[in-house]
Amino acid sequence: MSVDLFVDPAQPKRTSALLFDQIRTAIGDGRLLPGDRLPTSRELASELAVSRSTVTAVYGRLLAEGFLTGRQGDGTFVARELETPRRSHAGSTGSIGEYSTALTPRRSIAVPTRPSVPTDLRIDLRTGRPDPRLFPLRDWRRCVVEAVGVSPPGYGDAAGLAALRRALAVWVNRSRGLTASADEIVVTAGAQQAFDLIVRVLLVPGDVIAIENPGYDMARRAFTHHGLRVAPIPVDREGIVVDAIPPTARAIYVTPSHQSPTGVTMSAARRRALIAFADQRGAVIIEDDYDTEFRHVDRPLEPVQRLDRSGRVLYVGTFSKTLSPSLRIGFLVAPVPIANAVKATRALIDTQPPHLIQSALTTLIVSGQLDRHLRRTRREYSARHSVVLERSAVLFSSGRILVPTRTNAGLHAMLSLARGHDAEDIAQRLRARGIAIDTTAAWWAEDPAPGLMVGFGAANSEELHQAFDELDRALRRRRRSSAAGA
Ligand SMILES: Cc1ncc(COP(=O)(O)O)c(C=O)c1O
Repeated sequence: MSVDLFVDPAQPKRTSALLFDQIRTAIGDGRLLPGDRLPTSRELASELAVSRSTVTAVYGRLLAEGFLTGRQGDGTFVARELETPRRSHAGSTGSIGEYSTALTPRRSIAVPTRPSVPTDLRIDLRTGRPDPRLFPLRDWRRCVVEAVGVSPPGYGDAAGLAALRRALAVWVNRSRGLTASADEIVVTAGAQQAFDLIVRVLLVPGDVIAIENPGYDMARRAFTHHGLRVAPIPVDREGIVVDAIPPTARAIYVTPSHQSPTGVTMSAARRRALIAFADQRGAVIIEDDYDTEFRHVDRPLEPVQRLDRSGRVLYVGTFSKTLSPSLRIGFLVAPVPIANAVKATRALIDTQPPHLIQSALTTLIVSGQLDRHLRRTRREYSARHSVVLERSAVLFSSGRILVPTRTNAGLHAMLSLARGHDAEDIAQRLRARGIAIDTTAAWWAEDPAPGLMVGFGAANSEELHQAFDELDRALRRRRRSSAAGA
């Protein structure tokens, strides 16, 4: 490798984070080029005098985030499909294929590509994906046809169509127990735009934002991109450990209904502690309620927003799980002055949400078709959830995963592997069998622990059984080879 890497003996706990950053930066600024081969984990560990499992974990995370590619036995390489423009070694002129530019992004983000999808994809266990086979196509088509039956009205409200915001207010209050009025709602391009808008309106570069660790990587990336200082906070069986949040935090991003990725539901006591912390410190809470509609086992706890007496909780919802992420539609519930500031900011970015999609969604909600769709899909996803729980319980009792899978909701479950296990290696074995699966690496801001994410949104019960059979085999084989190597 043509890049020198350093470890800081004074910060042994940060070794993996430092190595991860150095390799990612070297890729981002072109010192490592697509196709470059990295040393084996054994070579690099010995060169830097760190443990091999540290290097394996760093490589695993880089693989999971798409910076590296590799196959068992072939070596590890810088990915060829990175989307970030890179400067050439020769000088400051960048070149991508036949294009070249003298410009360098001032705020460069190395956009990770997700691990490659097997070309012979049989079963899709990637997270965050509802089943396109369950999309309510007939109802949606009717709603869209109705929406295109009127001429597009021209410029509209940057906060979203008034009729949609009214419908959303009724729907979220009824289905999620919020207390929201139409004036407090801003329609966004998914949850991701809501995160971006919240930061623009309420925070400035250098502000500290506490996030769950492990936690949702796309939110973390958005915060980092805006120059916020991210403070990763551990998550236990009750959710984010409020006592570990630094007093300087200006904001706290949480997924209380269904922690991403662990699946933990934040306890009522923790919710109260979180509100008390935010009240005391004047901080804002960003409540990301991304998949609350799919509660399989128990009743949901009331949202943190409902406990809020001082207007400091911003609630984010999305239709990416209930309908489809390709619709790019979500919403933010915020106190009116904040909603107005968000609306003014959105107007500067993309003027307003597209009319057609808002209009179709309004009909879907108001006609009751969305509720019907949710009842139907909840039944199906709950059946899949049972398969995942049942099969992961067997993996746990046979010692192949470390902790029982805790999840009562949503469309994914996390499987924790023993430290030292190579989750990426197992994921690769599954990919070679046509099963797309993520490791948990991308969810960790630091100190990654090995794990796999089983998304059951896009795989039905039969496919899940097949995938678990393969997973079981991969874990057994892994065990045998480590026993043989010991
Ligand atoms: C924790 C979390 N929040 C939000 C989202 C939804 O994002 P969006 O609405 O931008 O598609 C996801 C999707 O995977 C998620 O996992």
